[in-house]
Amino acid sequence: ASSFNSVMKPVKGFKAKSSLKITVVGAGQVGTAVSAFLLARNLTKNLVIHDVKYDLATAEALDFSHASAFLGNPIVRACGDGNRTKNSDIIIITAGARPSGKTRSRLDVMHKTVDILKSVVPKLVKLSPKAVFIVICNPADVMTFAVQRIGKLEKHRCFTTGCHLDTARFRYLIAKRLKVPTTDVNGYVIGEHGSSAVPVWSSVTVGGIRLRDVLKDLGTDKDPEKWSDLFDGILKAGVHVSKAKGYTNWAVGLTTSDVVACMLQNTGKVCCLGTDVKGVHCVKDSVVLSVPCRVTASGISHILELPLTKDEHKKLLKSADTLLEAQCSLKL
Ligand code: 2OP
Repeated sequence: ASSFNSVMKPVKGFKAKSSLKITVVGAGQVGTAVSAFLLARNLTKNLVIHDVKYDLATAEALDFSHASAFLGNPIVRACGDGNRTKNSDIIIITAGARPSGKTRSRLDVMHKTVDILKSVVPKLVKLSPKAVFIVICNPADVMTFAVQRIGKLEKHRCFTTGCHLDTARFRYLIAKRLKVPTTDVNGYVIGEHGSSAVPVWSSVTVGGIRLRDVLKDLGTDKDPEKWSDLFDGILKAGVHVSKAKGYTNWAVGLTTSDVVACMLQNTGKVCCLGTDVKGVHCVKDSVVLSVPCRVTASGISHILELPLTKDEHKKLLKSADTLLEAQCSLKL
């Protein structure tokens, strides 16, 4: 004890309340980007960076702690064995194998990542039995299904940011083409966070104007303006960025911090998140894919069923089939 204690008199009857605690699993490029935005946006004062490479987690926690004065005095701690994650309110899983090679397919790294999840998730659930789990390691939808099963977690409190990112890219590219601000564009990408994702062109609006009312064949093969090319750009966006830098991290980090911000506001804001959608849009099986969801501090309260055209619905069911096949090949 320091002699400073002699001038700090404890107040009788005081009991400390715990502040919101977030654990980020994985101290790689994605985990550190998520951590940076959670801290810079003041979303938590109690952050644990968990990585089996404890030295790496410690270095990252220190690096953030050195900027304490600029981050509003958070406590950032490292953890290698899981113990410090105890009683987390939110656990964000970024740990996993990184897609590589020519295709950089998110589905290719699936089995390696499942093995990692099997080794960390049970302890995390045991130590934080009430936590909400956000899974962002790829393939995000299938890995979310895996975490739901491994951790025996209900679908409302284990989900992926999934197409919240594809939706952000979609709105950005539409905005760029129309020369309007991104936040004036509304519309969703649903389904897989990957190549079978579905752009819901029929619901795209800009400043309250439904784009299909102005551009009749928007997004279809008949469209003279070829808007569907724009969506190809979204499918290739992650691959394009990661070919040059080896990974993507800023957009997914900001996407995740946006979802956490929405949770903390607890207003039931709509984000395009991935969870088990059995029974929604006539999906018959337990498949994890993204659809607009209302997100609260306790997780997902409602799933919104967008009115889809026949073609969009067909594509969504096809995406569900692709994901179901991947889910079935998991060794859980
Ligand atoms: C992304 O879309 C690769 O899933 C990652 O940025």
